[in-house]
Amino acid sequence: MDVGELVAVGRTSEVYAYGNDSVVKVPRPDVPEHWAHDEAQFTRAARTCGVPAPEVVDVIELDGRPAIVFERIDGPSMWERMLAHPADIDQLAVQVAAVHREIHAAGIPSGVPDLIERMCMKIGEARTLGDDAKDEACTIARALPRGAALLHGDLHPGNILLSPNGPVVIDWFDATIGHPIADVVRSSILIRPNADAADLPHLPDAEPGFLEHVHSSYVRQFDELVADTADSLSQWEAVVAVSRISERSDDDAGLLEFWDARNAPRSSSELALVATQFAPSGD
Ligand SMILES: Nc1ncnc2c1ncn2[C@@H]1O[C@H](COP(=O)(O)OP(=O)(O)O)[C@@H](O)[C@H]1O
Ligand SMILES: [Mg+2]
Repeated sequence: MDVGELVAVGRTSEVYAYGNDSVVKVPRPDVPEHWAHDEAQFTRAARTCGVPAPEVVDVIELDGRPAIVFERIDGPSMWERMLAHPADIDQLAVQVAAVHREIHAAGIPSGVPDLIERMCMKIGEARTLGDDAKDEACTIARALPRGAALLHGDLHPGNILLSPNGPVVIDWFDATIGHPIADVVRSSILIRPNADAADLPHLPDAEPGFLEHVHSSYVRQFDELVADTADSLSQWEAVVAVSRISERSDDDAGLLEFWDARNAPRSSSELALVATQFAPSGD
């Protein structure tokens, strides 16, 4: 089958039409070869739990490199919908949270790695973190409550496509099994504006106030989870943030601020403040 027109350019890939009903996700040349196989495996695993994810049709070779053929999902991304309908962002952010809860409640598929192991591997690759800090981060991560839920690992409004049959979640490369708070912290870090108010590559073309609005509507849906895990929230934020450094998001300074706040009281966590709106208690 021939590769058709370019459908989208992602952060790590280019996506082309493939036949009538499929697309092919072609990882960029600098992406390790095993990624395509891993993402195909994790997407299939998520589908076995009934989570709305595109069908994996095949993994093929293109120019000697693996690429994934997915069922083509018709419709804009949740992010495109938000930008086009700013008056609806509250309601759309609540939908993002609902999809996220559905993933966390879906069950535990086989063939998906453990969150903490994956996290420690990424922390080991964090170029702006010293060796002592890496060791400390992994020690903190291993001591956190384990949890047992399917986590997407990169859930933000750009990774949800709005098909005529409802939302479909794409980009499962970072899926793991672990504690849902890790996934909510990760999404919170992905959705909130940068300290320097720079455009976010994964959520482009929005003012900081717009992102703040999406962020608060999203995290408020997790008030109970955040309250339940409040005592360890600063540690979760610290380890989730430093495990993102290896992804070269160009916001290392912002991520390292979470690391520096690893022993801070819960009342200083913006996520906790926004989600539960609790008054600082001086703890
Ligand atoms: N199954 C699909 N059907 C239709 N479009 C898709 C599909 N998968 C990905 N895309 C398009 O390609 C873009 C990038 O895909 P994604 O999996 O998020 O890659 P990246 O890892 O590069 O972010 C998406 O935002 C979407 O526009
Ligand atoms: Mg993506």
